[in-house]
Amino acid sequence: MIVVPGPASLQLGRKVANLLDAEIVSVYFKTFPDGESYIRLDGEVKGEEVAIIQTTGPPQNTHLIQLFLMVNTARDLGIKKVIAVIPYLAYARQDGRFLSGEAYSLKTIMSLLETCGVDTLITVNSHNPKMLKSFKIPLKDLSAINLLANYFKNKGFEGAFSLSLGKKATDIVEQANHVLKGGCDYVPTQRDRLTGKVKIDKKSLPVKNRDVIIFDDIISSGGTMAKAVKEVKNQGAQKVYAACVHPLLVGDAKDKILKSGADGIVGTDCLQSPISEVSVAPIIADALRNTS
Ligand code: R5P
Repeated sequence: MIVVPGPASLQLGRKVANLLDAEIVSVYFKTFPDGESYIRLDGEVKGEEVAIIQTTGPPQNTHLIQLFLMVNTARDLGIKKVIAVIPYLAYARQDGRFLSGEAYSLKTIMSLLETCGVDTLITVNSHNPKMLKSFKIPLKDLSAINLLANYFKNKGFEGAFSLSLGKKATDIVEQANHVLKGGCDYVPTQRDRLTGKVKIDKKSLPVKNRDVIIFDDIISSGGTMAKAVKEVKNQGAQKVYAACVHPLLVGDAKDKILKSGADGIVGTDCLQSPISEVSVAPIIADALRNTS
């Protein structure tokens, strides 16, 4: 297998290639003065099985276009199989048409990936894997929650209480609890479809005098996590940490969460950020081993 680390996942792509002991084909890329993307695969890929690793965090649109160009070029060059590894899949939260006339963005992105020639898709804690599986491209959605929970276990937080944001994310917190074994629950959340803002509903939680780790798939503006941290602190928790798979950390998200009382924030390198302390390279390498 050949690994192509895309412009948005250079470090992660190299780590995965090292773990697989796989050959790397580098990508030469640049942005034209008008903002258009240029891509050139710098090596032979004909007849090969290729894993193109490209996350699609900000600037999402540029990273998506780069991905489409890489995949379609690899296809044109006679590749045997294209596995697109997209640790963070942009637009995954717009997984339906919730208001009349609005774009069902995830459907559009999936159609484009299919048209460009993706054979298999690998994501990490994508927002709605059930929905993603309803599209034509075979999907493996990996979970980084064990890695995050083990990070906290190794820091001495075995027995901490695990919390997730929203009832839909109870599977996340159950995975975390499997490692931390301190019990788990969820904080009820509601999203306003017009503003996109998330509201936290009142719920009494067994967190008094306990260390708590709050897990979420994404921290974007940090608003949801900050509110949850504040609520858990108000209910008497001791140390409270925020953990996420995809640290988008838009604007002052990190400060907002720390100011709300969090003792720390940890994320993965699905998106490279100042808090990306946990690498998802091992689970991606394993998935690729089992894909070929
Ligand atoms: C929501 O569906 C997600 O799981 C996250 O809770 C949300 O995207 C976080 O957004 P923000 O950081 O902007 O509150």
